[in-house]
Amino acid sequence: MEISFRLNGADVTIEVDDPTETLLDRLRADGLTGTKEGCNEGDCGACSVIVTGPDGVPRALNGCILFLPQLHGRAVRTVEGLEGVDGTLHPVQQAMIDHHGSQCGFCTPGFVTTLAAAHARGETDHADQIAGNLCRCTGYAPILRAARAVEAVPVPERMVEPPVGPVSDGGGGDSAVLPADADALADWYLDHPDATLIAGATDVGLWVTKQFRDLGPVAFLQTCRDLDGIEEGAGGLRVGAMTRIETLRHALRDRHPSLAEMLRRYGSVQVRNAATIGGNIANGSPIGDGPPALIALGARLHLRRGGDRREIALEDFFLEYGRQDRAPGEFVEAVTIPDAAAPLYVHKISKRFDQDISALCGAFVVPVEGGRIAGARIAFGGMAGIPKRAAHAEAALEGREPTEAAFAEAGAALAQDFTPLSDMRASAGYRLAAAEGLLMRVCHALQGRSEHVLEVRP
Ligand code: FAD
Ligand code: FES
Ligand code: FES
Repeated sequence: MEISFRLNGADVTIEVDDPTETLLDRLRADGLTGTKEGCNEGDCGACSVIVTGPDGVPRALNGCILFLPQLHGRAVRTVEGLEGVDGTLHPVQQAMIDHHGSQCGFCTPGFVTTLAAAHARGETDHADQIAGNLCRCTGYAPILRAARAVEAVPVPERMVEPPVGPVSDGGGGDSAVLPADADALADWYLDHPDATLIAGATDVGLWVTKQFRDLGPVAFLQTCRDLDGIEEGAGGLRVGAMTRIETLRHALRDRHPSLAEMLRRYGSVQVRNAATIGGNIANGSPIGDGPPALIALGARLHLRRGGDRREIALEDFFLEYGRQDRAPGEFVEAVTIPDAAAPLYVHKISKRFDQDISALCGAFVVPVEGGRIAGARIAFGGMAGIPKRAAHAEAALEGREPTEAAFAEAGAALAQDFTPLSDMRASAGYRLAAAEGLLMRVCHALQGRSEHVLEVRP
């Protein structure tokens, strides 16, 4: 497979023999060793690079779980490409020196590229921006000082990447394909139903880097631009499967602030810049953070196989652990999120505040009409083998006034809805007790007794 992209300002076309070779491996093999390998699984940010796609937005991504074909038609900037041709350092690099932001230096290229991408986008939520970059020796205060110091410094011209191209359509073989659009993907996948679809590769990347799996035939979906984007229609939003979690987070800020806030704690900015909502649903994980909220909102899933399309309630997609209602050759095209009948409350509970997978995640839409609860929708992740509604708890609330007594009964009913597992993230008893506690928080929020304070930064 031949791919074209821009690397540190120079257009390159390369032949890719192994479509699951990562950018990190290729960079280091080619002598660009500023980009470091720490964890090789998206957790530490040492491998961060800046990738600018056709929308012209520079984003930090983890090079260790980025396959080379995912770069087709994009511009990549590594730490080696940050300084000017005359050797002038990027403002972030200079600020890291001025504010003593580096000691051993191993993490520094990752911090610098992540901060340079944030600087180019004018982001000033610095702690969030570097939540996916781990430093074991300097400490974060000098790095945050460096980030603040460049807020008003103009973005160097070299950071604005002109569109890459023209590039070929990426070709379509039997072993690896970059389909031009959803129609091309539908045709190819029908002929290759055993293939692995690759969206953001934040799950699939680890199958390769940690499990050393041979994926067989693969299709890279990022060239299907018609699968990417959010459309606002009468009654709700249609979110394309290839919409990034970070894009969704920004789009939902006004409509579902609680969900947008929870998504801020979904992985790190590097993970959210790659991960897609389609991948988060299709992987069928019981602890994916997207599905509980979408199920509580009554989302519908749009599936396509060849020319055939069908639409199902999202909750019906998850059949049992590891099994979803998806036929061979069928893929997720979009999810529609109807306008909610009442505010959505979402709570993620994990051992660490940032960059951690949920022990459990609860999502609640509890409409109150004429002083009584009508049609509550409650869904949890981390409480069963699939993301699942709490039918008994919902029934316990139906027709009741939103009192503590009603919510306590609903909390007790959770034991009929779920038999959670004990694992490294939480015990079964903790999960049930925490889920009950979350229900009570919703009660207090409905009563206006507490500000709906979702998360308090430590
Ligand atoms: P991929 O890895 O590309 O694919 C995942 C699966 O979905 C594969 O089986 C793929 O074939 C399939 N697939 C993808 N798109 C489609 C489609 N359109 N139709 C059919 N099948 C498809 N997840 C959370 O929920 N919360 C977190 O906080 C979180 N933190 C993470 C932190 C790190 C460091 C990492 C590496 C991952 C984390 N994840 C988290 C998991 C991961 O980010 C999500 O599951 C993600 O949404 C997967 O999306 P993707 O686009 O990367 O999917
Ligand atoms: Fe740790 Fe890539 S090496 S995130
Ligand atoms: Fe040593 Fe950050 S400077 S790990």
